[in-house]
Amino acid sequence: MKILILGYKGMLGHELVKEFENGHELILWDRDQIDISRKEEVIEKVSKLCPDIVINAAAYTAVDEAEHNKNLAYKVNGCAVGFLATVCKEIDALFIHFSTDYVFDGENHNGYKENHSYNPINMYGKSKALGEKMIFDISSKYYIIRTSWLFGKNGKNFVETMLRLAKEKKDIRVVNDQFGSPTYAKDLASEVRKLVESQNQSGIYHITNSETCSWYDFAVKIFELSNLNLKVKPIKTEEFPTPAKRPIYSMLINTKLPPMRKWEEALKSYLIETGRRKL
Ligand SMILES: NC(=O)c1ccc[n+]([C@@H]2O[C@H](COP(=O)([O-])OP(=O)(O)OC[C@H]3O[C@@H](n4cnc5c(N)ncnc54)[C@H](OP(=O)(O)O)[C@@H]3O)[C@@H](O)[C@H]2O)c1
Repeated sequence: MKILILGYKGMLGHELVKEFENGHELILWDRDQIDISRKEEVIEKVSKLCPDIVINAAAYTAVDEAEHNKNLAYKVNGCAVGFLATVCKEIDALFIHFSTDYVFDGENHNGYKENHSYNPINMYGKSKALGEKMIFDISSKYYIIRTSWLFGKNGKNFVETMLRLAKEKKDIRVVNDQFGSPTYAKDLASEVRKLVESQNQSGIYHITNSETCSWYDFAVKIFELSNLNLKVKPIKTEEFPTPAKRPIYSMLINTKLPPMRKWEEALKSYLIETGRRKL
């Protein structure tokens, strides 16, 4: 199949390339090849290419900056998704798009099923919810894949931030009252391939590593598995104010697909693969 991957230089894009490069004709575009927020460019370039599948891993992902850069976040995460959905419909391509736990308010202690209604509490979440709505309005052949707390080899993420802080500090404070499911981008990419091969029906899918934790639990596990001796102090959200409010309980409940491995196992693999932990 001819597969166009957008945002291939990003954290998830990088893993998608590795996952799909065998057995498919891949076309890899990032900001240098296309600006997905320009309608004419998107329609012209993608329809000329005419892929079977368009996988959109391009996004505006700066959650705190989005509070001040609302227009840009809406353009890239909202309107651009509408342009991609439109061209995919024109050329009859399957459209695969990624979304986030941040489309929910995080008030629900039990987590969120695929059909739960949106109530984003920050600009990034609002812009991603707009992108999803565009797809519902336009597309008939699509997968919207919501994921959370991504970590991977090719991008800024919590694991890398913790490992950097471990070199600079003797003790750190980490929020212990926000809960979610850390997800290894490589595991997610592998599930995306399975989903494509399964030819499941169009709709929303929740794909994360299994089980949940707080950011504090996640940090403690990172240091434990990397054999780093660092004091981690649990703190409350109010003690670590950020421009964008975060959902408290953002567990994505998956009712459609087999569960992925636990986040601790995925983290262990990541640390081994990046040379931070011996086998
Ligand atoms: N990271 C997470 O924790 C997380 C959690 C839940 C869901 N997600 C979703 O998962 C997907 C992938 O996230 P990620 O963390 O892998 O993203 P990422 O590392 O930030 O990569 C996004 C890529 O998109 C490119 N891009 C941005 N604006 C563009 C535009 N207008 N035209 C073309 N390319 C553009 C970026 O280029 P520049 O670097 O030049 O801007 C970058 O290469 C996104 O949809 C995100 O919302 C992520």
